[in-house]
Amino acid sequence: MPGETDLKTLLESMHPVAREGDFVYALWPHGRALEGNIEAAVREAEGLTVVLPRAEADKLGLSYDFVATWITLQIHSALEAVGLTAAVSAALTHAGISCNVLAGFHHDHLLVPVAEAGRAMDVLRLLTRGVVLRSEQPEDRPEILELTARAFSVSPVTGQPVEGTPVEVGLLRELFECDEYIPELSIVAEIGGDIVGHAISTRGWIGGFGLVALGPIGVEPTLQRRGIGSALMRETAARATAAGEPGIALLGSPLYYPRFGYVPATSLGVEPPEAAWGEHFQLLPLPGWPDDVRGTFRYAAPFQGL
Ligand SMILES: CC(C)(COP(=O)(O)OP(=O)(O)OC[C@H]1O[C@@H](n2cnc3c(N)ncnc32)[C@H](O)[C@@H]1OP(=O)(O)O)[C@@H](O)C(=O)NCCC(=O)NCCS
Repeated sequence: MPGETDLKTLLESMHPVAREGDFVYALWPHGRALEGNIEAAVREAEGLTVVLPRAEADKLGLSYDFVATWITLQIHSALEAVGLTAAVSAALTHAGISCNVLAGFHHDHLLVPVAEAGRAMDVLRLLTRGVVLRSEQPEDRPEILELTARAFSVSPVTGQPVEGTPVEVGLLRELFECDEYIPELSIVAEIGGDIVGHAISTRGWIGGFGLVALGPIGVEPTLQRRGIGSALMRETAARATAAGEPGIALLGSPLYYPRFGYVPATSLGVEPPEAAWGEHFQLLPLPGWPDDVRGTFRYAAPFQGL
């Protein structure tokens, strides 16, 4: 059966599957006969590269640096299909995830760093629905503000329709311009060039201790409950962790955010700016979270005017 060549069909029917276990790239010792459970090999003038399970490399005494998760794109793509590899690697690049691509006769295979495997699977699943995450650019802002107006046209607090422009629109406009704005933590979700989701995080403080505060976050109303909001939440946490941020604070539903690891901020000794927020004020401690931070959280200046 000839393989599929249409890029949109390829992306929609692509089913990423992560194989069990860790895999590594190793150089095969010159002159040694090939043996063991080799999954892929590339011969170059300089030597033979092999890809194999980490346990097998250990057994064979091979050294390696890159430890990867092997993701197979389960679709019968034609070897001459144009753009699948480019679309996949562009989406992973936007998410800051490095990947090595291997093409077999039947499928394409991606080797991504083990620590990034979960996020890579998120990116690939979103891509099957045409969704790409990337950093906001200043020229995106009018479109983001329009999206935010639609997302918050029903108040998340009262559940009632909002009259006029939602406050989140003015807040976001100010956050884009304030000193506490962090460019790489303003993230858009895009489908076919249209912005369908956005999350921003800005600098906040507990006394003199800096961390980040997430919000507002909004997804196009007609596209909610398809995982876009969750992807923006996870992407924010991954970027903040990579940037060495110690934690992320937010005000939101105690029913929604605990699934991403958020806990009531008070359980970590951090008080909300307004006591009445109670359990709605939540905190995600990241790997650098110090146990001895105590005090009241302070948002970026534009939040003070709300
Ligand atoms: C909150 C929001 C960003 C989530 O985006 P999304 O793409 O719909 O989220 P996902 O598809 O990843 O997740 C949907 C899940 O979250 C739940 N959820 C979303 N908002 C929730 C809330 N306020 N309270 C409880 N659960 C909520 C949904 O019930 C759904 O649960 P399920 O998977 O168990 O069915 C989106 O609903 C939105 O833009 N809402 C309007 C603006 C808003 O309230 N922003 C948050 C405050 S800043």
